[in-house]
Amino acid sequence: MREKIVAGNWKMNKSFEEAQDLVSNILEIKDQHGKLKNTSVVLIPPFVYLELVKDMTAETGIFTGAQNLSERENGAFTGEISASMLESMNIDFCLAGHSERRKYFGETDEMIAIKIVAALRHDISPIFCCGELLSDREKGTHFDIVHSQLNQSVFSLNPNDFANIVIAYEPVWAIGTGVNATSGQAQEMHAFIRELVTKKYGKNIADTTTILYGGSCNSKNAADLFAMPDVDGGLIGGASLDAEEFTLIVKAADALK
Ligand code: PGA
Repeated sequence: MREKIVAGNWKMNKSFEEAQDLVSNILEIKDQHGKLKNTSVVLIPPFVYLELVKDMTAETGIFTGAQNLSERENGAFTGEISASMLESMNIDFCLAGHSERRKYFGETDEMIAIKIVAALRHDISPIFCCGELLSDREKGTHFDIVHSQLNQSVFSLNPNDFANIVIAYEPVWAIGTGVNATSGQAQEMHAFIRELVTKKYGKNIADTTTILYGGSCNSKNAADLFAMPDVDGGLIGGASLDAEEFTLIVKAADALK
């Protein structure tokens, strides 16, 4: 059975104290719900709070992830954070290809491919984000766009490396807009992605590849989305900033399959 994951991407939010409060509230509420059956929780705070989150969640089974990483190994690259630094802090996951990085920071499929290789070289599991713009969906090219993103950023990995990545389908028109993809739209794209993975890497790898949905996922729509056979959890933005809301989403995932 493949791993279910609910990951909270805090983006550029929270003060240090607020970050502390959020983690302690998540831990407190999570404890009240008892042990999770088969869902992994990943917290993805801004870099400056990674150590805090790592310390606060030690021994809880919660994983930590970074929101970005440099495609360079180390050296004179002011402001950058390398995969080897993240590895030295035992960070488990790293986002790669988030649409905000593509849109505001000019990240291309090629840059994302290099970041993914850097993460894998340092034992960090990349969460590769893909997804179409509204204009792509309106034109009916959304499958082509996602296919091309996969081709250019992850389908040149060898099977062993590919088996260590997580895919997040995040239609850009759904991110932060309050308009989520319907469960039917999400399932259709997730099944398409899994089919492409099957063609490229075979059924065994495809069956164990975790494919998350992201884009205005919240405690009200999570159960419907996660009930889809090819949706293996969520990458949560806005709703991960509230402990109660985030924990309800985690519970929704854990209650299914
Ligand atoms: P959202 O963001 O849940 O706020 O729509 C999701 C994401 O960007 O990962």
